Amino acid sequence: MPAAKTMKPLTLPGLIDPHVHMREPGATHKEDWDSGTAAALAGGFTTILAMPNTAPPVTSAETLQSTLKLAGSKARCDFGQYLGAGVDNTTSAPAIAPFSTGLKMYLDQTYGPLRLDDMTDWLAHLQAWPHGLPLCAHCEGKTLAAVILLADLTRHPVHLCHVSRREEILLIRKAKEQGIPVTCEVTPHHLFLSEDDIPAIGSGRSEVRPRLANRRDIQALWDNLDVIDCFASDHAPHTLAEKDSPTPPPGFPGLETSLPLLLTAAAEKRLTIDDIILRCYTNPARIFRLPEQPDTRVEVDLDARYAIRAAGAFTRCGWTPFEGMPVQGRVMRVTLRGQTAFEDGKVLAQPGSGRNVRPEMTTPPGAALPD
Ligand code: NCD
Ligand code: ZN
Ligand code: ZN
Ligand code: ZN
Repeated sequence: MPAAKTMKPLTLPGLIDPHVHMREPGATHKEDWDSGTAAALAGGFTTILAMPNTAPPVTSAETLQSTLKLAGSKARCDFGQYLGAGVDNTTSAPAIAPFSTGLKMYLDQTYGPLRLDDMTDWLAHLQAWPHGLPLCAHCEGKTLAAVILLADLTRHPVHLCHVSRREEILLIRKAKEQGIPVTCEVTPHHLFLSEDDIPAIGSGRSEVRPRLANRRDIQALWDNLDVIDCFASDHAPHTLAEKDSPTPPPGFPGLETSLPLLLTAAAEKRLTIDDIILRCYTNPARIFRLPEQPDTRVEVDLDARYAIRAAGAFTRCGWTPFEGMPVQGRVMRVTLRGQTAFEDGKVLAQPGSGRNVRPEMTTPPGAALPD
C-alpha cells in the first residue's frame, strides 16, 4: 500500500537574489518595482538587488536617487540598486557608492547602453571604487580572465556575474586557489538548460547573455559547485511579443522559478538544502553586505509536484523558458519582518513596504547625495 502523502514543511531564511532587472524606470511594460518585487516574494526572495541597465541607466547621483525613490514607493520586498560603470563616472562614482548596492561593469555583449570596452576604464573603476563595497562584472570567456587579472593587480574584490562555461568556472577555481579576491554566481537557467533546449524553447525566446551553453559546460558547473558562491536568477524580463520579434532582446525571467528548480535538484540529491541556503542567503548576505531581516522566513512544501507555468505568475513578461518543466517544491508562505508577505499564492505585502538595504538613502531626498 503506498504511504499517505506526508507534508514536509521546510523553513528557509528570507532568500536574497543579487542579480535582477526591475525595468523601472523606462520599460515598465516588461516589469516594474511592484510586479518585480511581487514575483520575488512569490519565489521566496525577500531581498533583491537591481541592475542599473534601465532607461535612463543608473550612473549618477540623480538617476540613483530617482530610481531609489520609485523603488521605495513601490517595492514589496527589500531592495538595493546598483550603480552602472560608465566611461564618464569613474571620478563621481565613489562618492555615491555607499548609497548603492555596488558597482556593475558591463564588459561583454548585453542588453542596454552600459558597456565598457577599454580596459583603461575598467582599471580606473577598480582603482576608484571603495574596497569595502561590492563590484560586479558581466564578463565572459577571455574577458573574465582579464577581469581576474585586474582583481589581482588591484587586490580589489570582484564578483563575477552569471558564470556559465567550463573554462570560466575552472579559471575561477584556479584564481581562488591563488588567493585572488573573486566570487561568482551562476543562474538556474545555466544549470538546468543547455543549447540542446533551444529548439523547444524557440530561437528568439532562448536568446540570453551569456548564451545557453553545452552539456559539458553544465556538467562542469555541477562538478564545481564548491566554487559557486551564489545562485542568482538574472531575472531579465522581456515580453513575449519582444522575444518573438525579429530582434529578440536577450534575457529570461527567473525570480519565480529559481527556488522550485533548486529544490527539485535537492529532491534529486544533486545538491542539499544547505547548499541552497549557503548560495541564496549566507554568501550573498556576506558578499553584498546586507542587513539582517529579523523575524523573516520562507516556508516551503518539499512534496508539492507540479509543472512550471507562466500563467498566473507575478512577473509582467508573460512567459518562462521553463514552461511545462516538472518541479518538486513550492513556496507556501513568506514572512518579512513579522508580516505575512506571501501566502497560498497571494502576495500580501503592500507596495512601499520594502526597505532599501542601504539605509543611508532613507534620509530626505537631496540631503543624502552629493550633486
Ligand atoms: C540582461 C537584460 O535583459 O537586462 N539580459 C540577459 O540576457 N542576461 C542583461 C544582462 O544581464 O547582461
Ligand atoms: Zn580599489
Ligand atoms: Zn549580464
Ligand atoms: Zn543581468
